[in-house]
Amino acid sequence: KEALHVALLGYGTVGKGVYETIKQHQGRLQKLLGKEVKVVAVLVKNISKHKLSDRSVILTDQYKDIINIQKLDVVIDAIVGIEPAYSFLQQAINRGCHVITANKEMFAHHSKDLHALAKEKGVTVGFEATVAGGIPIIQTLKRLLNANKVQKIEGILNGTSNFILTKMREEKLLFTDALSLAQDLGYAEADPTNDIDGHDAFFKAVILSEVLFGEQPDWGKAVRVGISTIKSEDIAYFQSLGLRFKHVASLQRTNKTVVCTVRPVLVSEAHPLYQVEDVQNAINIEADIVGNISLQGPGAGMFPTASAIIEDIIHIDDKEYGPCFEEESSISESAEQLWIAYG
Ligand code: HSE
Repeated sequence: KEALHVALLGYGTVGKGVYETIKQHQGRLQKLLGKEVKVVAVLVKNISKHKLSDRSVILTDQYKDIINIQKLDVVIDAIVGIEPAYSFLQQAINRGCHVITANKEMFAHHSKDLHALAKEKGVTVGFEATVAGGIPIIQTLKRLLNANKVQKIEGILNGTSNFILTKMREEKLLFTDALSLAQDLGYAEADPTNDIDGHDAFFKAVILSEVLFGEQPDWGKAVRVGISTIKSEDIAYFQSLGLRFKHVASLQRTNKTVVCTVRPVLVSEAHPLYQVEDVQNAINIEADIVGNISLQGPGAGMFPTASAIIEDIIHIDDKEYGPCFEEESSISESAEQLWIAYG
């Protein structure tokens, strides 16, 4: 069978991770897909800064060199920011390519448009890597929790923030030193503002909300607070009381709206997020049939993020299911009113 031809947009931490993983695990991929996965081109900002081990791969700073490749099946977005990523993916879908993205900001803004365009063109959009790094939360919610109605979801969605809070408490590092370490380890964004002011976790919550409820929370009404105002003294003081700061994102569907909050909270040992440390992310899902489920794993970094993208490559042709959530019927609404009246 002919190989699956893949183009990679971006060759930073995520792009490199994907390139290396495809090379290292080619045997597995071939076995699963029944064909070779071949990276045919890589888009970078500055060609002189990069060198690829395989000289037959096109290394370019021009998107037209990629979009005009005759045999191209999948375009992987491993760049940051809304543009030009959004336009690039639109062009890729328009010419019939599947797309996979790790770009949270772009996807929180444009997931609906990309899904609609992909549906029209008969291709798929993989976005596992946009939320919680290597944790397979998107596939779990989309494919494995369809009959269940998810009522609430709560978790740590930014690896960098959790890493900084952990290092400030455990090793008494200064905020700035902990952040530099997170950057060195490839956890933080190139510009870490979105990590520490809560935007990154908010974008991930928005993406989860669309998967779960088919709609986004009201951006203007969402609570979004980052970790930059938390002081070392506060961390030490609350630790002496047995409490830890965790940066928690939560989504809850109530009476036709989705309430979203992203903020630091103090948790005690009894709380499921208390033990989630370093770059780990965790997500607690409350669903009506199964009860509570927790998923925990590496929330950022080269190979966890590459893992999410590689799994999307494997599932590129799978059937998509929509969210199972339906509007509450008027009967249950009036039942709720009765309960309030007599409760
Ligand atoms: N900077 C992000 C984080 C990367 O720290 O969670 C993964 O999305």
